[in-house]
Amino acid sequence: MGQKLVSEFNNYLSNNSWFFNEDSTNNLKANMENYLQTRDFFSCSDDFKDFINFYCYFSNDSKFAFQLMSDFPANEFQRVLEVGCGDNFSIANILSQNDYNVILMDSKLNTELFKEKFGSEDKVTAIKKRFICDKAATSHKGTDLSSYNCVIGFKPCKATEHIIRQCINQNKPFILLVCNCTHKSVVDGRTFPNKDEWLKYLQEISKEVKIIRNKEGFDYATNLESIHTGLLKSPHRSFQYIQ
Ligand SMILES: C[S@@+](CC[C@H](N)C(=O)[O-])C[C@H]1O[C@@H](n2cnc3c(N)ncnc32)[C@H](O)[C@@H]1O
Repeated sequence: MGQKLVSEFNNYLSNNSWFFNEDSTNNLKANMENYLQTRDFFSCSDDFKDFINFYCYFSNDSKFAFQLMSDFPANEFQRVLEVGCGDNFSIANILSQNDYNVILMDSKLNTELFKEKFGSEDKVTAIKKRFICDKAATSHKGTDLSSYNCVIGFKPCKATEHIIRQCINQNKPFILLVCNCTHKSVVDGRTFPNKDEWLKYLQEISKEVKIIRNKEGFDYATNLESIHTGLLKSPHRSFQYIQ
């Protein structure tokens, strides 16, 4: 991996030479040398994390975590509810090492595995519970979001529509990476013939819901203005709205 990483890195520097001055180029190079020796990603500079993040040296869930950190900065979004984590605790792991408190909620939470991974770590807690929305949108029912700053989900599958509806009802910022399956409407049980119809339906829940597809073909759902404009503006990310 080292050689490929270095060659991608050199391409990255030359392709983006307009962006990095001499100091920042030297700084990135120093980060790279340090990273190759230590593999300690968390001590690297933000510029270097950007490079790693966008050049696919991390799995998609880790990339999602790094993206969240720029969209939901820890000083504003301290308490993050991650719905539908499954057995994959990598997002919580990354966020908890970066000053967030993460609360995991999954109806089938593997509590033994959770204990094994996090032990007495107090920045990550877990709740084995089904997340549900208030279909009637009265805000009095369903999962109470009042103690969280934002809600995230990485392929939360059947929880997707519940999260979107409940966050809209309770005015809570959310960002989801939507999985490739379609699900029955939680309101009337209708089904969807393909993913695009499903995404269109999710987007029509509210004007606030934006569905964004990135160049890798991943679909994000969010309601936070700064996220979708940021995603669209970022030179690293060519996102577009689904019409
Ligand atoms: C496709 S898995 C994704 C797991 C993990 N995020 C990953 O990418 O590996 C979806 C997870 O969502 C959970 N889930 C589905 N509906 C849920 C709900 N309403 N509330 C909480 N968890 C739910 C399932 O138990 C499952 O663990």
